[in-house]
Amino acid sequence: MPDTPEAVQPPASPPADSPVIATPEEDRALLREGDSVLLIDRKKRQYLRVLKSERRVNVRDGMIVPDALIGHPEGIVVRSSMGEYLQVFRPTYAQIAPNLPRQAQLIYAKDIGTILLYGDIHPGARVIEVGVGPGATSLALIRAVGPTGCVISYEIREDFANLARATVKRFHGDAPQWTVKLGDAYEGFQERNVDRIVTDVPEPWRVIPHAAAALRSGGVFVGFIPTVLQMKQLVDELREGGFAAVEVVESLQRFWHVKERSVRPEHRMVAHSGFLVIARRLAVVPTAS
Ligand SMILES: C[S@@+](CC[C@H](N)C(=O)[O-])C[C@H]1O[C@@H](n2cnc3c(N)ncnc32)[C@H](O)[C@@H]1O
Repeated sequence: MPDTPEAVQPPASPPADSPVIATPEEDRALLREGDSVLLIDRKKRQYLRVLKSERRVNVRDGMIVPDALIGHPEGIVVRSSMGEYLQVFRPTYAQIAPNLPRQAQLIYAKDIGTILLYGDIHPGARVIEVGVGPGATSLALIRAVGPTGCVISYEIREDFANLARATVKRFHGDAPQWTVKLGDAYEGFQERNVDRIVTDVPEPWRVIPHAAAALRSGGVFVGFIPTVLQMKQLVDELREGGFAAVEVVESLQRFWHVKERSVRPEHRMVAHSGFLVIARRLAVVPTAS
């Protein structure tokens, strides 16, 4: 075990078997035509834009020519025509969600992190999503299951289905592991033997008998639900409907302001978004009498 700071410095040149980038074509840092980028100004305001070689990037009253961005590494700082300095990065998941259309309430990174880990959404998993809205959760699920898994998303409204498709296309690209099914999830699922079900609809208890039929034994149900009475009904009906190991969790997240000698929590925080109800499907599901 090295015990001096010098000893843990990375070697000047990587070992021959390192997966390090060798050519500019493989350099993941380089910004390309069609990339979404986030420009951040000195007041930490964020501007999400798409890079097009024929289109200037406008930020407030200033503009940046595409050549100043395309072909350069993310992490650069550019100066707009108004003299404003902007940091340029590809957006992370947490930065994408607040920039999506708000026609329907969506689930932000604070809760998505919990859904993915407590819901055990893993590479290769077969997942049903109920209620796609603008597609924030779809995007996270598609990324988590990877190319060997699959996500089937049920959505009752065609406009939301199309909105979610546009979100996934823009921030993920082609997603052959993802299918959107237009229909009422309260009427049932066609799938069987799925590993996980994630719901974000107003009456998730109406999904329970169908979830019990679609999930394999031991499969995980995760329901995101905003109010206490909805949460209680969901818990009660899960317990009666063949599910066990029910847990309810709420995530509170507080950002901090860290500048010079002013180190304190931010004055504002999201006080409430929703509850997550997590449950496991029992091997034997009671049948309706
Ligand atoms: C709150 S939004 C989901 C947002 C999504 N989780 C996200 O993070 O972007 C709820 C969605 O559920 C859909 N929905 C409501 N009832 C439904 C049902 N019975 N079957 C399928 N979709 C339904 C709505 O049309 C809406 O798009």
